[in-house]
Amino acid sequence: MNRLIEYMLPPAKSTMAGETDALFYFINVTSFILLFGITVAIILFAWKYRRKSEDDITPVISHNNKLEITWSVIPLILVIIVFGWGYSTYVKNITPPSDAYEIRVVGKSWLWEFHYDDGTVSVNELHVPVDRPVKLVMSSDDVLHSFYIPDYRVKKDVLPNRYTSVWFEATEEGESVIFCTEYCGTSHSNMLATTIVHSEEDFQTWLESGGGDDEDMSPAERGEMLIERNACATCHSTDGSRLTGPSFQGAWGSEVPLENGETVEFDENYVRESILEPNAKVHEGFQGVMPSYAGTLDDRQIDAIIEYIKTLQ
Ligand code: CUA
Repeated sequence: MNRLIEYMLPPAKSTMAGETDALFYFINVTSFILLFGITVAIILFAWKYRRKSEDDITPVISHNNKLEITWSVIPLILVIIVFGWGYSTYVKNITPPSDAYEIRVVGKSWLWEFHYDDGTVSVNELHVPVDRPVKLVMSSDDVLHSFYIPDYRVKKDVLPNRYTSVWFEATEEGESVIFCTEYCGTSHSNMLATTIVHSEEDFQTWLESGGGDDEDMSPAERGEMLIERNACATCHSTDGSRLTGPSFQGAWGSEVPLENGETVEFDENYVRESILEPNAKVHEGFQGVMPSYAGTLDDRQIDAIIEYIKTLQ
């Protein structure tokens, strides 16, 4: 039985998951019992009351009060239970505890950005402490997305020009996958992220390190780390191969052909502009689909990325 339950739902890793699952199983098990009972009754009655001879005439039955009350009251009670249970679970699900730790979430085509209270930013990795309620305040930079963590049983649409929120309390350390569940364009299916649940202590250490950003690294090393950490490498290769965006390999100092027929030199200004306002100058043959990193990367980080790209000759 436990095996079967494991196959039906993803692991339950938040405080609310157990309650949501219990209601899910209640509805499914009750529906199955009713379906089974009704099907068996139909088959038995069809056999038992079949026409047995030429003059076997069915009597006219206008009604049966006892039966009609039974089959009205039992479903009514079941529906009231499901409504009451569902409503109380829903209210708990949309009401974060007042001491919840708040994280800002920004959906962009096609990545997830997380902003923490001390200014730390992470891309496609949501870091949270274990056993502490976390409230996510979410919005989109462009189109509709939807934020979904199956292991926590939380899901909510993410909209431009409006905030929505979800909350959860992770019950164990480890990783869980985050999906975008609103079709949002070419790379919708790649709009994945991971929650990383730390102990309270490790979470504070992670925050203090600026999310693993090390300002003591050499600029080129830091640039390489930032490109990995900010999901740049999902679209821009560093070995010359073609992905969604142009490769960084050998790009430095080259003449970049643009969609509008002009050319531009691949220098500091071009890289900076392309990070902050990606669609200002679109490389010929590529779609202008990159999200802006304004507010995600600061000037020193952009400098580091430039230094790293220079090394890719
Ligand atoms: Cu974002 Cu689908």
